[in-house]
Amino acid sequence: MKGFFITGTDTGVGKTVVSALIAVLLKEKGFFPDVIVRKPIETGCAIVNNELVPGDGHLLKTITGSDESLDIITPVRFSHPLAPMAAAAYEGTTIDIAEIINSFKSIDSSSVVIVEGVGGLLVPITKGFFVSDLIRELSLPVILVSSNRLGTINHTLLSLEHMKNKAVAVAGIVFNNTHTTGEQDISVNTNIEQIRQLTDVPVIASLPFLGSINYNVLAAAIKTVDYGIIRSFLK
Ligand SMILES: Nc1ncnc2c1ncn2[C@@H]1O[C@H](COP(=O)(O)OP(=O)(O)OP(=O)(O)O)[C@@H](O)[C@H]1O
Ligand SMILES: [Mg+2]
Repeated sequence: MKGFFITGTDTGVGKTVVSALIAVLLKEKGFFPDVIVRKPIETGCAIVNNELVPGDGHLLKTITGSDESLDIITPVRFSHPLAPMAAAAYEGTTIDIAEIINSFKSIDSSSVVIVEGVGGLLVPITKGFFVSDLIRELSLPVILVSSNRLGTINHTLLSLEHMKNKAVAVAGIVFNNTHTTGEQDISVNTNIEQIRQLTDVPVIASLPFLGSINYNVLAAAIKTVDYGIIRSFLK
């Protein structure tokens, strides 16, 4: 299976935005006509007409113009905004890991799949099975989304160290800016250079604050991404 697993240093750091950005990048470059998206587990889903609606799965489907159903893109959904294991327990159920992994087996080898994780790497899916274990099972290289703010050096290095311990391949780091320049702390001026000095994992993008997210905004932002590195992981 070709593609990337998009994880982050935390929840809310921009995994969905970066997943959409990478999908749009691949679509715009045109070498990979079949770019598909997955957000296999989503918690904090809205309830509309008695149905759980996964906001991230929906955004990824809409932005990429996917004709796959949301049941395929986001099969496992919970209403409570909790880590999956906690949400499942709260809602009186458990998560079937094998079912999630099997759902990837039918993906055509010519497709490129962009998979958004849930929370960060050590978020539990079941007891003893974490997001990083799912990444290992799927054998996809990781793009780590790091929030460009004070604290990111610690979060980024901890995430990289964990992936090294789990023998997970990392394609690169995307530093993301979820706030306007006026709202940022001064670490934005030094974070990327510090990380470059502290690890060999490449920073493949520094994504500015983009305002409201849509296809055109992301298509304009693909120039911030090091496409050479992305391409090298899709051979
Ligand atoms: N570069 C950006 N420019 C503007 N808004 C952004 C940017 N990155 C993220 N956001 C906004 O910040 C919020 C959090 O981003 P996002 O939903 O992508 O995070 P996430 O890591 O996927 O969160 P979750 O853990 O809930 O899945 C969203 O409202 C998103 O639109
Ligand atoms: Mg998300």
